[in-house]
Amino acid sequence: MVNNRMSIDDLIEIVTEGGKVKTGVDVFNSHGVLLLDKGVVVDRVKTLQIIKDNGIQTVPLSSSKDSGVWDKSGNPLNPVSDGFGETEETAEEPHLKTPSAGEIEKKLYEIEELKKIAKVKYDEAKTSIRKVLGDIRKTGGEFDYDEVSRNVGDMVEFLTVNENPFSYLTKEIFTYDDYLYNHSVNVCTIGTAILHRFNAHFSKAFNDFLDSGSRAAKNPYEEEPEENEDSFVFFQKEEMRDISLGFFLHDVGKVMVSEDILNKNGALTTAEFDEVKKHAFEHGIRVLEKNRIKNNVLYNIVKYHHAPLFKGEDRCYPGEKNAGEIPVYVKICKLADMYDAMTSKRCYKEAFNPINVVTELFRKYARKNRIMQFLLHSFVKSIGIYPPGSIVFMRNGQMAYILESTGPLVLPFTDGDQAPLSAKPDPLDISDSGNREQVQIDHRRSVQTPAEVYDMLPSYIKDVVSRSAD
Ligand SMILES: [Fe+2]
Ligand SMILES: [Fe+2]
Repeated sequence: MVNNRMSIDDLIEIVTEGGKVKTGVDVFNSHGVLLLDKGVVVDRVKTLQIIKDNGIQTVPLSSSKDSGVWDKSGNPLNPVSDGFGETEETAEEPHLKTPSAGEIEKKLYEIEELKKIAKVKYDEAKTSIRKVLGDIRKTGGEFDYDEVSRNVGDMVEFLTVNENPFSYLTKEIFTYDDYLYNHSVNVCTIGTAILHRFNAHFSKAFNDFLDSGSRAAKNPYEEEPEENEDSFVFFQKEEMRDISLGFFLHDVGKVMVSEDILNKNGALTTAEFDEVKKHAFEHGIRVLEKNRIKNNVLYNIVKYHHAPLFKGEDRCYPGEKNAGEIPVYVKICKLADMYDAMTSKRCYKEAFNPINVVTELFRKYARKNRIMQFLLHSFVKSIGIYPPGSIVFMRNGQMAYILESTGPLVLPFTDGDQAPLSAKPDPLDISDSGNREQVQIDHRRSVQTPAEVYDMLPSYIKDVVSRSAD
């Protein structure tokens, strides 16, 4: 919760005199570029000057004990009690109107209906990749390119008209093949959503940013830019279809890697890791060549989707291109790939909660270069961390159904011991500052689908889910 703001001028004065500040919240400019990470202690005037040069007059200070302002002797300067700087009340954060019982029912029904249609599309796409990989196994490399291209086109059409395709990303897997099918569809879904968001909202801002004087206002943490910043990034419709197809087929070379290695429960030996690497630049490329596919976009995605996004990034391959030469759509594929892999349960690891995964991706990449900052923001905007219809755990142990990503607005349906509630509870707006700590989402636990917890759902949710599944 953010309680106070301080003027940049006051902070500059404090830091000039040897003091320090830690906001406890991330500070972004109007283009969505991260200027200051919430965990950083600022002791350089230059950092604050850059924020000011980006047109920001005041910065928020989190009310948590992790934030604060200190003088040169390390004494806390509380902006409220000491009257330091400008302390405005944060603008009233918009709280969601609590829906009536009828509205809740309608919302539940709409969510489950959309999920039903999405599931059909998802299953069609899964059948398509199952056929592609099966054909490759049978023939030693050949598959029906035109057919898969048509199928992915249909799916992309659906993704472009539906705002939130993430409600139906499935994490239910039983075998490695299941994982690979789901992963291919998930990466295509996530990647396509990022691509559309980037094209619609970010590419112009990104290009303006590169063209404007903000070039001078560099992110203080940015390393020497590796990307070719002069290129205008915007994708045409046909190119976007090719890119989505590339996302779908990015791991096509994995059918030629031994399952024992792919499923190994434990660290890979160097020789085993070398085998895994081949799925991209050797097996994957061979499949494309064998099918006489002449499409650079596909080659780039298949070959480079594990390439480093900054100099010296670990466990990446092949490394012959530097990050600046990797096309933006390949970077999107890599983000979608990492997100799906990290939020999936595998035989050798638990699924990580999406919010922790996104935080991790921000920590790893956002400071490295501007295009990654833009992509990560497109990513967060498009995935809506907790999609409507998913199930989360609260810190007090209760389970809740997400009614709206904004807030989020949740409908708890168990008590703290995960026993069904006897009475129908009111929905809860998580962003409401009146809520206690325990009724926040537990980010350490993974998100589940209603199918996974169907038996625990109360009848008023279960009815809608099953009615919609008919
Ligand atoms: Fe891969
Ligand atoms: Fe992958």
